[in-house]
Amino acid sequence: MRASTVPSVAESIARVRHFGILPVVEISAVEHALPLFEALSAGGLPVAEVTMRTPVALEAVSVLTRAHPDAFIGVGTVRTEQDAARALDAGARFVVSPGTSAEVVRLCNERGTLVMPGTCTPTEVQAALAAGAQLLKFFPAEASGGVGFLKALAGPFRDVSFVPTGGVNAANLAGYLALPQVAACGGSWMVAPRLLADGDFEQVRALTAEAVQVVAEARRRG
Ligand code: 3PG
Repeated sequence: MRASTVPSVAESIARVRHFGILPVVEISAVEHALPLFEALSAGGLPVAEVTMRTPVALEAVSVLTRAHPDAFIGVGTVRTEQDAARALDAGARFVVSPGTSAEVVRLCNERGTLVMPGTCTPTEVQAALAAGAQLLKFFPAEASGGVGFLKALAGPFRDVSFVPTGGVNAANLAGYLALPQVAACGGSWMVAPRLLADGDFEQVRALTAEAVQVVAEARRRG
């Protein structure tokens, strides 16, 4: 059963734009979930994409959405329709996929949840749009050509918004955010698995606050 606090697709897109960053998290121990989210929130980003790369990922999502019903907790590394169903049942407020699966997009749209399928070619962009996606992950961003590639896409796809992810960090974030078609960037640099394993949530908070500052400055420059 979905909670009444699940935002609409339009609200979710507005939230993604508002935050400017989606922290991409790999949680290997459920007990890390709450301190991690509290560190992200303290740094200014009450949002996380919890990747389905560990056995406890969806349990962590349930813990987080129960403790913080209004938090923007999504599920990433959603590769199949079955993954998507499990993510939505766990309470995902948004769904992210490394590639484009029409079935994943269709199911999320049917359930009224924002889905960001991964794309890194014009053909994939067209396929994701045809499947009904409204916001596209650009993955792997740096390895696929980064800012230059997105600028090249802006001719035919000027009406399409992207969330570049993969190789984004505090140093190159502003370059992406300066592009009008970039809604936000995804990245794991402020929530590196080593920081979680070490319990270094103060460093998570500090790196998050630094990233939030980069977003604020990029937006001031407009
Ligand atoms: C991922 O799915 O792993 C994301 O793209 C994160 O990439 P990053 O670790 O390079 O930020």
